Amino acid sequence: MKRLLFAAAALLAPFAAIPAHASDEALLGEARKVATTLPPKLLVALQEEIKKSGAEGAIPVCKDMAPRMAGEISQQTGWKIKRVSLKARNDARATPDAWEKAALEDFDKRAGAGESPAKLEKGEKIGNEYRFVKALPVQGLCLGCHGPAEQISPAVKAALGQHYPNDRATGYSEGQIRGVISVRKSL
Ligand code: HEC
Repeated sequence: MKRLLFAAAALLAPFAAIPAHASDEALLGEARKVATTLPPKLLVALQEEIKKSGAEGAIPVCKDMAPRMAGEISQQTGWKIKRVSLKARNDARATPDAWEKAALEDFDKRAGAGESPAKLEKGEKIGNEYRFVKALPVQGLCLGCHGPAEQISPAVKAALGQHYPNDRATGYSEGQIRGVISVRKSL
């Protein structure tokens, strides 16, 4: 696990700082780049850890590695990074604010109407901040920890129950939106 964390951290490429007067388009591009750095790395780490020690052994990837890597990317880029959801597992970390909630609801509606969830994103300048969210679609791999009860092993259920007494993040099926990655930066 430790080796995995270092390997993942080393992969993070440095980002150029964006000037305060950057155009909306430049900000959107930068935000998108920051937001899309974390998910593929998490996916690889999840795949490796699940293969090695099963879904219950991979819980630290989503629990500890994801926020740690988000912190590292924040430090390198100056963008604040979170993952939020309408059905949070970690409600202390993942409860959306009003802007994020509106985007999540809009994404659910659009995915329900047939839009590809992987393409759903929203960027906006609000006051002295630029904010961006990108949908995180549920893939087959996610179901062992976020799927319907019958797809979650007793060991995973026990671990989740212990860490997350208010867990609402189960019952998903593939293609639904698990949440968004949310990034913001003061201008
Ligand atoms: C091995 C179990 C496991 C797998 C597999 C897994 N997750 Fe998670 N996920 C968790 C745990 C545990 C948390 C709570 C993290 C925390 O404490 O911040 C979580 C939290 C999240 C969050 C943050 C919002 C919240 O509800 O707290 C998102 C978004 C998320 N997972 C998406 C995914 C996606 C998308 C996949 C598949 C690509 C996935 N997860 C696969 C265990 C897992």
